[in-house]
Amino acid sequence: GVRALVDRFGRAISYVRVSVTDRCDLRCTYCMAERETFLPRAELLSLDELDRLCATFIDLGTRRLRLTGGEPLIRKGFIDLVARLSRHLDAGRLDELTLTTNGTRLEAHADALARHGVERINVSLDSLDAGLYRRITRGGDLAGVLRGIDAARAAGLRVKINTVALLDNRAELPDLIAWAHGHGMDITLIETMPLGETGIDRTAQYLPLDQVRADLARGWTLTPLARRTGGPARYTRVEETGGSLGFITPMTHNFCDQCNRVRVTCTGTLYTCLGQEDHAELREVLRASPDDDAPLRAAIAEAIARKPKGHDFVIASGRSPSVSRPMSRTGG
Ligand code: GTP
Ligand code: 5AD
Ligand code: SF4
Repeated sequence: GVRALVDRFGRAISYVRVSVTDRCDLRCTYCMAERETFLPRAELLSLDELDRLCATFIDLGTRRLRLTGGEPLIRKGFIDLVARLSRHLDAGRLDELTLTTNGTRLEAHADALARHGVERINVSLDSLDAGLYRRITRGGDLAGVLRGIDAARAAGLRVKINTVALLDNRAELPDLIAWAHGHGMDITLIETMPLGETGIDRTAQYLPLDQVRADLARGWTLTPLARRTGGPARYTRVEETGGSLGFITPMTHNFCDQCNRVRVTCTGTLYTCLGQEDHAELREVLRASPDDDAPLRAAIAEAIARKPKGHDFVIASGRSPSVSRPMSRTGG
């Protein structure tokens, strides 16, 4: 039978983010070092192991599954994994199967995603200026991402844009929001979090979202919405565009008391909080009992019982990141 996972603060864990690779074809300055070193491929969970791990979480009451990276669409066999996982949607054991992508490979894969039960995706996009996009991503091609977004929408996927708010894109944010809303897409702004050493001082680009809200309120009427997607975003409606705008404010307005999620790295490490080091190694548990999921279920339940109250992120000049592992290891 299904056992719901509830932590010691009474938070039910029904959402899991699974990173399928730490690799990415971009190098966003707030996320990765210019010469990020990636894990040897042999360290990664196989597709069979990822499939089994996800099924076990679903047995434990997970209702929403988000595949992340790195960039999930560069993992070989990714679409096969999605196809296999979609059986849980068909069986009514899972409410949502989705992914967060940088969009570079969407043009090729959008149709297949839609065919295999994915209904909406989140696409990371921090600028509509090709030059600034190239600088932030260290070489990314904006036009390809825009074609990917078009392909996704043409395939019937709902697209939400994720934009990390930076001093560099501050002036452009109203245009980015108006563009997203003009194309029927929601957009969410995110505060930079101090995860992993990137070789660049995050304080130099850090932009608290209260400031952005004040910028936007000069031209627009923002009405708070009660709607929650079960994620950390707080939504407002922009009356002038008719679209919704989310704010993810880990730095300025902690949302940890509502947390419903855990994440697993591409090597099978379960992190029970994005902003803490607490973890459980699931890979060896998985490999030690290929025919019995009970030890795996027990390891997951035990880790979740210990889930920390919340993160204590601090961004300050000269201070090392609050969490040393890079975001690309856990997919946010
Ligand atoms: P939906 O609400 O389902 O659209 O997804 P989401 O916003 O939770 O996921 P997405 O992958 O789009 O992530 C957006 C941003 O939220 C990323 O920067 C994530 O790192 C951040 N984020 C997601 N979950 C958490 C969390 O539990 N804690 C913190 N601090 N940040 C999170
Ligand atoms: N802080 C905030 N958001 C980040 N992302 C990657 N690194 C960071 C960070 N240090 C974002 C990406 C993507 C999402 C999964 O996380 O831009 O939208
Ligand atoms: Fe890649 Fe996403 Fe990190 Fe950018 S934020 S480098 S797209 S993993």
